Amino acid sequence: MNYLSINDINSLHDWVQEAITIKKDPLKDHTLGKDKSIGLLFFNSSLRTRLSTQKAALNLGLNPIVMNFSNEGWALEFEDGTIMDQGKSEHVKEAAQVISQYCDIIAIRAFALLEDKEKDQAEEVLLNFKKYASVPIVNMESSVGHPLQALADAITLAEYNQKKSPKVVLSWAPHPKALPHAVANSFVQMMQLQDAEFVITHPEGYELDPEITKNSKIEYNQEEAFKNADFIYVKNWSSFSDYGQVISKDKNWMIDQPKMNLTNNAKFMHCLPVRRNVIVADEVLDGENSLVIEQANNRTYAAQLVLKKILENE
Ligand code: CP
Repeated sequence: MNYLSINDINSLHDWVQEAITIKKDPLKDHTLGKDKSIGLLFFNSSLRTRLSTQKAALNLGLNPIVMNFSNEGWALEFEDGTIMDQGKSEHVKEAAQVISQYCDIIAIRAFALLEDKEKDQAEEVLLNFKKYASVPIVNMESSVGHPLQALADAITLAEYNQKKSPKVVLSWAPHPKALPHAVANSFVQMMQLQDAEFVITHPEGYELDPEITKNSKIEYNQEEAFKNADFIYVKNWSSFSDYGQVISKDKNWMIDQPKMNLTNNAKFMHCLPVRRNVIVADEVLDGENSLVIEQANNRTYAAQLVLKKILENE
């Protein structure tokens, strides 16, 4: 079993309920991973993913081994048949097989580079590790998706939702740098599995991949989208059609209290890290309706559920 995308969840409802059960007694399965190791490979920075996945592994008795490829590993080559006479020292073919000798599970973080749409969409790093490794692979945020984050978000929604079909709004907000689409993509895919009124709002030109959004409603007027919302999930992403470009930094899209006042006393969600007073005003982030710390807390139980399922399956 691998956990590469939201598509690997066979029943979101059952997974969320199981994660909530784990949260009540996180050490119940503390011997399940005894004498086994998980390799956490980071090609990019992380706070939450790195620590919550280590914590989840430790809760299962699984030994985490962490490697930062950005400054510790050999520079990896991913293309087949390359003459490796330039900067890359090791091919993923050997690296993935070698790491499989030391680790029973491999988890990988490798963001989109936002330079070559085709390469990013092909999930070059994640899927080459899957191709050449002989152990299960977990996605800790790839070019296209962040399914551990979306699973944690689903747990948080379940914990705070009080309606059969809540209104959930995914809103773009401005950011000075070009950011990938992974968090938004997985959130959309996860919401498509929920009984909810789901609306995506962003300036024109920021449409996500239509193969991800499918029939999800898009409302270009943010204030209209916020009306009667029960949850506001905020994230920046760069343009998908004008790939990787920042085509707007419109400050009017920042989330502030007057905007939250348009909602049905909505809860505020963000995956973190977040830029204060750029994406969201202090008053909202620090307000009583902010769920960001609980979302981060639930990253442990999302990861623990995934690792538990993999260990039980092996
Ligand atoms: N939300 C999230 O994935 O946080 P990190 O980038 O700090 O891991």
